[in-house]
Amino acid sequence: MQITLETKPYATLEADALVSYIFEESDPIQSHLLEIDRSTNGLLKKLVKAGELTGKTLEFTLIHAPAGLAASRLLLVGAGKREQFSGATLRKIAGAATRALKAKGAKKIVFLVGENDANDASAQAVAEAATTANFETDKYKTDKKTDKNIESIAIAGYSESSRAAAEAAIATGRTIGDAQNFTRDLVNEPSNKLTPRVLGEKAEAMAREAGLAVEVLDERRIADLKMGALLSVAQGGPEPPRVIVITYVPPKPNPGAPVIGLIGKAVTFDTGGVSIKPADGMEKMKYDMAGGATMLGVMRAIATLKPNVKVICVVPSTENVVSGSAQKPGDIQTSMSGKTIEVLNTDAEGRLILADGITFAKQLGATVLIDAATLTGAIVVALANVNVGVFGSDQPFTDKLLASAKASGEKMWQLPMDDEYREFMKGSFADLQNISSGKGGGSITGAWFIREFAGDTPWIHLDIAGTAWNDDAKPWLAKGPTAVALRTLVHLVMSY
Ligand code: BES
Ligand code: MN
Ligand code: ZN
Repeated sequence: MQITLETKPYATLEADALVSYIFEESDPIQSHLLEIDRSTNGLLKKLVKAGELTGKTLEFTLIHAPAGLAASRLLLVGAGKREQFSGATLRKIAGAATRALKAKGAKKIVFLVGENDANDASAQAVAEAATTANFETDKYKTDKKTDKNIESIAIAGYSESSRAAAEAAIATGRTIGDAQNFTRDLVNEPSNKLTPRVLGEKAEAMAREAGLAVEVLDERRIADLKMGALLSVAQGGPEPPRVIVITYVPPKPNPGAPVIGLIGKAVTFDTGGVSIKPADGMEKMKYDMAGGATMLGVMRAIATLKPNVKVICVVPSTENVVSGSAQKPGDIQTSMSGKTIEVLNTDAEGRLILADGITFAKQLGATVLIDAATLTGAIVVALANVNVGVFGSDQPFTDKLLASAKASGEKMWQLPMDDEYREFMKGSFADLQNISSGKGGGSITGAWFIREFAGDTPWIHLDIAGTAWNDDAKPWLAKGPTAVALRTLVHLVMSY
């Protein structure tokens, strides 16, 4: 898909559809719609009067062959109340319009941004949303929706004097949208197609193409490094584990900036191990590598966006399967850090592999740490499929991430980390145990386990178990992987 900026009068723009949005107001035909209303001889005002056009959020009004416009369709999308409008609403509108129009066979669309919103952030948001909306999860279908993809979108409503800045914003949006699709493509892969080895190869290919330094550690290197926690998960199956390390070195490092370590859980399939999961819904455990895929997507984006901060990405990857060689409840493992762990439940494997991933990232020189993981079912109980769970050991750093989430239109919510929860993870026969000895708060106790390995290094944990996968298609996004947290992390890295 091509994304361009168009500054010509919209009525003259030829396209399969001209798209804009309308607010739920007493006088909804505001500035950017006035020209369309005039060109169409008062059509919009008539539609409002007839009650056809209310501006209610995501209400679609499609008009064919609108007299007075060069476009063959006019699509107006409800944007809700003006005062509640945000980048997040604009993303949904642009994404939903893209998906609705491609289903109708449109190839070329013009998206008109309202006068009051025609800034760089909007241009970036529309480019991102159109890019992610144009992505389908039908790689393994023989009858593909991808054949119906939109070929070009022109973003209109901008003045010629703002062209350079708006085009740069579009390019940024494009980069981030492409990175999200890269992540979604990985997450969508089933476990028979995407083993830790294949993930390593794909990460290596991506890094080479993006010009990033990359190293994929095999099982021998992992054993040399004494990553006992990761190896304990991997020992249950024939597929060897991998640790992917990708480094971004800035051309102009900000001397005050930290070295950011991004650690992502990449369990390519989680059966639970000997503490096996129920059959119902187990197929979804192919997305248990979403944290790792998100971090790889972040690296892909920043290779192009070139922040002023060094970033080290560490993705430990393994399957969690069952066999005679699988670890068993009660087994005691020694992690890379030297801390010992009683594995009371083999299904709490994400924290085991993150423990070694975090220790390794610190050893490689990371001075702040962020991990992303589909860590707990309990986060779905706490926050449903709406918010990412955020946990942190350093409030100013956590606040910075939450500000990036807000700016990126991703919903995230911080949970507490009182010392009381920490007690639940102390082991009886080893330093730590991998599940809580108490009741409830499963996402918090899981976070505490990981925090023990971060130690005094400022650390944030993102539990994306509830948000990395959409069970149902959204009007603006296909069913399946969401690449949640990628935009926030890119924004955070760019803010140094
Ligand atoms: N991968 C799962 C968490 C998960 C659950 C991800 C639902 C996506 C959707 C994780 O490895 C796991 O099994 N966690 C256990 C932890 C428990 C044994 C303490 C869980 O949440 O049940
Ligand atoms: Mn598990
Ligand atoms: Zn898991």
